[in-house]
Amino acid sequence: MWDFLYDYFDLEHIFQSWREGTMWREESSNFSTFFLFSLLSFLFVTETQARNLQPVICSSSCGDIKNISYPFRLKSDPAGCGDPDYELSCQSNKTIMEFHSGKYYVEKISYSEQIIRIVDVNLASGSCGLPYKSLSVDVMLNDIRYGGQVDTPMKTASFVNCSRNISDRHYRKVPCFSGDQSVVYVSTAGYAISLLPEPCFFISMVPTLDSGVDYPSYETTWNLLKSGFDLGWSVQCRDCFAAGDLCFPSTNSKPYTYNCYKTGYSFITSILSIIFSSLVTFLLAVGLISRFIFIPIVLIVFLIHKYRATRKTVNNVEEFLHKQQSWMPKRFSYIEIIAITNHFRDKLGQGGFGSVYKGQLSDGSSIAVKVLENSSFTGEEFINEVSTIGRIHHVNVVRLLGFCSEGSKRSLVYEYMPNGSLDRHIFSKKGTGESFSWEKLHEIALGTARGIEYLHNGCDMCILHFDIKPHNILLDCNFIPKVADFGLAKFYPKEKDFVCVSALRGTIGYIAPELTSKNFGAVSCKSDVYSFGMLLLEMAGGRRNSYAKATCSSKAYFPSWVYDQLTNGEDLELPDVSEIEVVIARKLCIIGLWCIQVKAAHRPSITKVVEMLEGSIDDLQMPPTPFFSSSPQHNSIREIQSDSSTEWLRSESIEECSYSHQS
Ligand SMILES: *[C@@H]1O[C@H](CO)[C@@H](O)[C@H](O)[C@H]1NC(C)=O
Ligand SMILES: *[C@@H]1O[C@H](CO)[C@@H](O)[C@H](O)[C@H]1NC(C)=O
Ligand SMILES: *[C@@H]1O[C@H](CO)[C@@H](O)[C@H](O)[C@H]1NC(C)=O
Ligand SMILES: *[C@@H]1O[C@H](CO)[C@@H](O)[C@H](O)[C@H]1NC(C)=O
Repeated sequence: MWDFLYDYFDLEHIFQSWREGTMWREESSNFSTFFLFSLLSFLFVTETQARNLQPVICSSSCGDIKNISYPFRLKSDPAGCGDPDYELSCQSNKTIMEFHSGKYYVEKISYSEQIIRIVDVNLASGSCGLPYKSLSVDVMLNDIRYGGQVDTPMKTASFVNCSRNISDRHYRKVPCFSGDQSVVYVSTAGYAISLLPEPCFFISMVPTLDSGVDYPSYETTWNLLKSGFDLGWSVQCRDCFAAGDLCFPSTNSKPYTYNCYKTGYSFITSILSIIFSSLVTFLLAVGLISRFIFIPIVLIVFLIHKYRATRKTVNNVEEFLHKQQSWMPKRFSYIEIIAITNHFRDKLGQGGFGSVYKGQLSDGSSIAVKVLENSSFTGEEFINEVSTIGRIHHVNVVRLLGFCSEGSKRSLVYEYMPNGSLDRHIFSKKGTGESFSWEKLHEIALGTARGIEYLHNGCDMCILHFDIKPHNILLDCNFIPKVADFGLAKFYPKEKDFVCVSALRGTIGYIAPELTSKNFGAVSCKSDVYSFGMLLLEMAGGRRNSYAKATCSSKAYFPSWVYDQLTNGEDLELPDVSEIEVVIARKLCIIGLWCIQVKAAHRPSITKVVEMLEGSIDDLQMPPTPFFSSSPQHNSIREIQSDSSTEWLRSESIEECSYSHQS
């Protein structure tokens, strides 16, 4: 008994049932009956021998059912044969049993097991049908003629009529009754009628054998329906029940023999019986209360608790993701990229790695989408870009908002820079673009230097850009410069002051000598400083450093001309400028010349460059000559540097690593 009560409080079990939808099925009603019966039999019942009537033996047959004998009889049998309660009829060589006004074919009668298998006449053949008559398992079990033990597991097959199609694995469509207006389903899930799907109403039900499968197919269900179901017949039990007594199998195994337990009434036992039945009623009431009130409450409390816990986890994750959002680039699908860029309508430019398109996010903000061309941008470079600038945040470093990587389709989504790149402004011919005041140029130089400084020192890794040039300095709406294009960037642990590069990186004209040949020393942060120096000089010169069409040949290579002018104490030949502007120009040139020293060791660090830009010109000294005065390489370097081409110089074949440890 306590075991059973434990079952009631066994949440695991309840949840199992809940999940499987078996919770309110008919199986559970057995407990109360069994409990009542065992208690009654234990206290009041005196065992009596079942009545031993002398049967009239006769035998007849109908179709496949041969040897129909006691207690069964056919309607056509002479009186006295069999038992009138177990009367069958024979129609067209089929044995028919009428049961609770339904019509069933008799499939088999087992006299040894006292089992008769019957099947609804409408379900016995073909592959589709509705029961002739609805029959519930309860009605079947409460028939006193068939109160015998049946071992085969039993279920109820319910037929429902639905006004529209439902998708529930428990329900299988009955094709021959389904049409455009309504769909008939059969289900062996045993749901209560109140739990039917909304557009359905109940048609009928019939007991069926259990398939043992959770979601039997229509074929499986139909085959089960076709094979019918078992009734356990027992004349002894029938007589026993008829006398108001109780009937139980006296053995635990087949073939069953039954004992009838007679309830004896005396004064005391009636009193006890009243008390006891009240107690039983009370216990049953408790059972019902726990089933319908207590368990739902426990369930609800548990579910609320679980929901809260889940919500909490979800919230934490959401919160975390939200926090991350500020520095994690979002991943876009290719479809989204197409939508954002409006089918790549607005092209902003074409770079070495692919085209850049303008786009708009759903919140209205403008973005630039760099669609990488498959061949030009390796997976490593892509990962570089995403992981490098995806996680860094600086006012002078362009922000990567998101990326897309679907197979070979890769794109990078940046904040949109309405003023384009710096080269457009500093190299613009008069009147075609905005030319900056010297103050503004100084501001931009300082901003760019701060951006590079942040890359070199700001995060846990030293990020070498390797491709500083005006083209890669973007200007936002306030002309605040932002370092962009990290395709060539590399990370190095900060403590290393030299690095290995396996490929020639950068753009001719900005590329540090050590990147072209290991004779010039190790590659380091100073390589970016060199490029920055060239950038400064271009900004100061208002033109590309190498300018073949220069009016006088000595000016063809701006850095050396500037160096000569400055060392000779001559002015920079700037037209229409104030005193202050001349100072700024001189300052930019001197710093630029410091940065482009051939020997990396002679170049200042980018931090020092920032200090120099912030400081006064009086603190600046003239740098030593940045060129090879008498070196045989002088000319060749000049040649490289005077190549005005800004084509990407990329060669994967050069292995340039003078140190043993790779980064
Ligand atoms: C019919 O049943 C009796 C006893 O129940 C048996 O002796 C007889 O052989 C059976 N006949 C057939 C045809 O099964
Ligand atoms: C029933 O079966 C018998 C013999 O098995 C046969 O002669 C008779 O025609 C059958 N009756 C019907 C209606 O099929
Ligand atoms: C199902 O319901 C529809 C409409 O209510 C009705 O026309 C149809 O005959 C029903 N089907 C069955 C098999 O009861
Ligand atoms: C159910 O779906 C089938 C096809 O999927 C369709 O032919 C039929 O009309 C639908 N029935 C109802 C009642 O919606």
